[in-house]
Amino acid sequence: MSTVFLPVRIEFAPGRSGGIGEDLRGLGSRRPLVVTDPGVHRAGLLEGVLASLREAGETPVVFAEVVPDPDEACAARAAQRFREEGCDGILAVGGGSSIDTAKAAGVLATNPGPLLAYEGVNKIPNAIPPLAVIPTTCGTGSEVTNVTVITDEHHYKTPILSPYLIPKLAVLDPDLLKTLPPQLVASTGMDALTHAMESYTNRVQHWYAEACAMQAMRMIAEAIRPATVNRDPEAIGRMLYASTLAGVAFTLSRLGLVHAMSHPVSGFAGVPHGLANAVLLPHVMGYNMVGNPEAYAAVARALGVPDQGSPIRTAEAGVREVMRMNRDLGIPDRFEGLGVTREMFPAMIRDTFRSGNIPINPRVVTEADVARLYEAVLTGEAPV
Ligand SMILES: [Fe+2]
Repeated sequence: MSTVFLPVRIEFAPGRSGGIGEDLRGLGSRRPLVVTDPGVHRAGLLEGVLASLREAGETPVVFAEVVPDPDEACAARAAQRFREEGCDGILAVGGGSSIDTAKAAGVLATNPGPLLAYEGVNKIPNAIPPLAVIPTTCGTGSEVTNVTVITDEHHYKTPILSPYLIPKLAVLDPDLLKTLPPQLVASTGMDALTHAMESYTNRVQHWYAEACAMQAMRMIAEAIRPATVNRDPEAIGRMLYASTLAGVAFTLSRLGLVHAMSHPVSGFAGVPHGLANAVLLPHVMGYNMVGNPEAYAAVARALGVPDQGSPIRTAEAGVREVMRMNRDLGIPDRFEGLGVTREMFPAMIRDTFRSGNIPINPRVVTEADVARLYEAVLTGEAPV
């Protein structure tokens, strides 16, 4: 079975966010709630967007209170502003937290709470207001996905999936990433690489997802170093495009053990999502590759690794390439020093197994395996 349902228009061009006013009119919105975080607001990234909206006769309302790892309260505040101000559409400008908050606020705008009652797949009864998204990082993919992730009071990153959460429009404007700090290009880019790799290697067979994932991995392997260390605008544009491709891939075929393990790391220790994935990725590749050596060998080749004579040896070389990539990007090789402690492990392991990505992981996972992996990644033990 292979369904492709992607009711999102994707526009890619430098400067394209300057046309967002007409886009919102096209979506039938005259008074959009602009959902963003204080950092994006301070960086001045909203100026062109708001000017375009006003030029098109829109009367936007700005909600710039998104927090990292947003919770239900954050989404509820945005939804309350939406109602009080009589908004009729939503525009998210920012990274994964802003986009996920915008989606969750949309759910609360047209559905009764509590939000977390919609955990899981296809639980949301009513469509959300028209949603347009302008990503300002090169990782999340949330501008094209059907999911929002909201942290509950027990630090659990709760996934809510519904076709209603797929935005109507994604505007990819690489000009907005010019001021993204290099460490965020690196960590959000590694999140995108993880999306592509998990989508490609997991047990879900989906030709469309595989094509998108493969192209995303090739583009990221070429572009992530120059985008991060040289701040090469062309490379940053390719990273942005690749992150959206990876988002398409995983919305069709989902993810795997890296995301199952990284959400608890962010939930309990506050490690940013992309960074948590980047540190975990070589470890989980080393663990998973025996479950699907051919797929991991194809991953290695996409990353530019020459064939090593057998799938498993090529896959191993792919793990070493990701370790090199992390080192070149200044990403640490362990969780030590990032706030993760052994005392968190039991709760982290419990939450890992709540993830819907566990049953589709390329290798059957046990609690002992996850405990061993968390220990190895805490201390920086070599993944292969
Ligand atoms: Fe992710």
